[in-house]
Amino acid sequence: MCYLDKNTENRDPNLLVGFDMSDDAGVYQITPDLALVQTVDFFTPIVDDPFLYGQIAAANSLSDIYAMGGKPLTALSIACFSCSLDPSILVDILKGGEDKIKESGTILLGGHTVTDEEMKYGLSVTGTIHPAKVVTNSGAKPGDLLILTKPLGTGIITTAFKFDMITEAETKEATTNMATLNRAASEAMQRVGVNACTDVTGFGLIGHTCEMAQGSKVRIRIQSAAVPIMVGVLSLIEQEAIPGGAFSNRRYFQDWVTFEDAVSENLRIAFCDPQTSGGLLISVPKERADELLAEINKGKESKAFIIGEVLGKDPLSPIAIEVI
Ligand code: CO
Ligand code: CO
Ligand code: CO
Repeated sequence: MCYLDKNTENRDPNLLVGFDMSDDAGVYQITPDLALVQTVDFFTPIVDDPFLYGQIAAANSLSDIYAMGGKPLTALSIACFSCSLDPSILVDILKGGEDKIKESGTILLGGHTVTDEEMKYGLSVTGTIHPAKVVTNSGAKPGDLLILTKPLGTGIITTAFKFDMITEAETKEATTNMATLNRAASEAMQRVGVNACTDVTGFGLIGHTCEMAQGSKVRIRIQSAAVPIMVGVLSLIEQEAIPGGAFSNRRYFQDWVTFEDAVSENLRIAFCDPQTSGGLLISVPKERADELLAEINKGKESKAFIIGEVLGKDPLSPIAIEVI
């Protein structure tokens, strides 16, 4: 269910998942059948529309609860806002956030705003989960199939928009995906039963898959042709609309990843693209994969794709991911 850090002998036994485990959210057990899942996340605007920014930031904050298999219960908003801006902008951001909080069935308890030249917004979310049903990113098993529930490319598309390389209309697929809750995918995986899950965010597909492989002590094979990528992303990479984070992810994880020669340079960049409010990356036993796909694809909220498989690990090799 979760692995414990060897250096934490004095660890509180109720702490089921802590920050030493690079998982999505912390989990603290309250009673034998109840644990709290807690997370906080906030960031600077990535779109011009304040309501949409609020929606995306809230969906992103809720995602870490969904990635653990939790049910979000309450939220607190956290915002930084400049006095020189029209206060109605902040109102619209908060309204966008409340829209997603409501859609998720979460209760907004309050929040806090401070003055800051650089605008930021997000949520601290508390959810509940049965202690035996926590889905960490470290339970993947050889033979599992790997499923991704949103296409890649939000970093590339928001970068291209920032540099006026695409119109607002051309960002629609990305902004819709970012504002989509991971709720349906999370509830489907809780019903079907899976071995591991995380959401794809700042480290990109490569980074988050790498963390799952390393935490699970397995090797993961990604089928590059099966990975969903949003329309226009590869041509924007060709035009060098690439966020700095894609390059730092590439450098940071390079020692643990091998790319087959046939995998193009542009695809490699797309796989390292930092995502905002990305999809869930789920490791599911092979025999349950079809059922999970059907469950997730039943609704219109999200679409799941099988993008790879989990292999046994060669203990002598540092390689955690192979991309073919
Ligand atoms: Co996460
Ligand atoms: Co997070
Ligand atoms: Co306050």
